[in-house]
Amino acid sequence: MPGLTSISEELTLSNRGYKLMKQLGEGSYAKVFLAEYSFNKADSGSTKILACKIIDTSKAPRDFVKKFLPRELDILVKINHPHIVHVHSIFQRKVKYYIFMRFAENGDLLEFILKRGAISEAQARVWLRQLALGIQYLHDMDIAHRDLKCENVLITNNYNVKIADFGFARFVTEPDVTKRYRIEQVLSSEWMAMDPRLAQLNAAEQAAMVEAQQGKRRHLEGTAKTAARKATDEEMTILKEGKEDDKDKQMHNLSTPSLFAQ
Ligand SMILES: Nc1ncnc2c1ncn2[C@@H]1O[C@H](COP(=O)(O)OP(=O)(O)OP(=O)(O)O)[C@@H](O)[C@H]1O
Ligand SMILES: [Mg+2]
Repeated sequence: MPGLTSISEELTLSNRGYKLMKQLGEGSYAKVFLAEYSFNKADSGSTKILACKIIDTSKAPRDFVKKFLPRELDILVKINHPHIVHVHSIFQRKVKYYIFMRFAENGDLLEFILKRGAISEAQARVWLRQLALGIQYLHDMDIAHRDLKCENVLITNNYNVKIADFGFARFVTEPDVTKRYRIEQVLSSEWMAMDPRLAQLNAAEQAAMVEAQQGKRRHLEGTAKTAARKATDEEMTILKEGKEDDKDKQMHNLSTPSLFAQ
């Protein structure tokens, strides 16, 4: 399999149903691969296509391994939003971390713009709204992403955008809430109002907003999920494991039409 350095590594992943395919992208200390996840083997079997970000800590500086990576993992296990990339499972084996997540079929926004040129204003309105809602959710959870850029915005097959790459993100320690932008500033802006369908929140977006308040409370009380090591396997440490019925929070958002998909 591409991206793997030993047979034992390949075996450990395939024993859990994961198979890596081709490379999709590369960042500073990570490589991202297309992956296939097989489950329900006893019951005729199903597969699901995912993306896997592999972080090799032996190739990364100490600062990244001790500070930034633990923050990324800690945040990834706590967030869940329709406009943020859905993380399926996180494993650690030896010096490597494997983050299996939803595969974004249309790549990242930078690639997309380079390939297809400027985004129409109508599509930009839809995407800005989705990004603003995702960022609002993070801020409500006291999380600052700190690396928002086109490369870290992914596009699904339905042309919905998902915020990705929490490699620089962190929990804010002394939040001055008054200085943060509020989602109303985006949703109620005249520019957004040019498409009246965009003013409303759909059920998934509303639910995520409520969930953010509860998530923040759990974080402050110290009762939130943590990426603490949970050894359940001789070979691998599982930080998060997706279940087969763990519905990928894919949005078929009626209030945010997919203009490209027409
Ligand atoms: N779920 C995904 N589906 C499709 N492509 C992806 C996915 N995740 C990442 N990619 C591609 O891989 C690239 C690198 O991923 P990511 O931004 O998470 O890592 P990174 O930049 O190495 O992170 P860091 O900045 O923490 O080092 C993205 O810009 C994108 O092109
Ligand atoms: Mg990146």
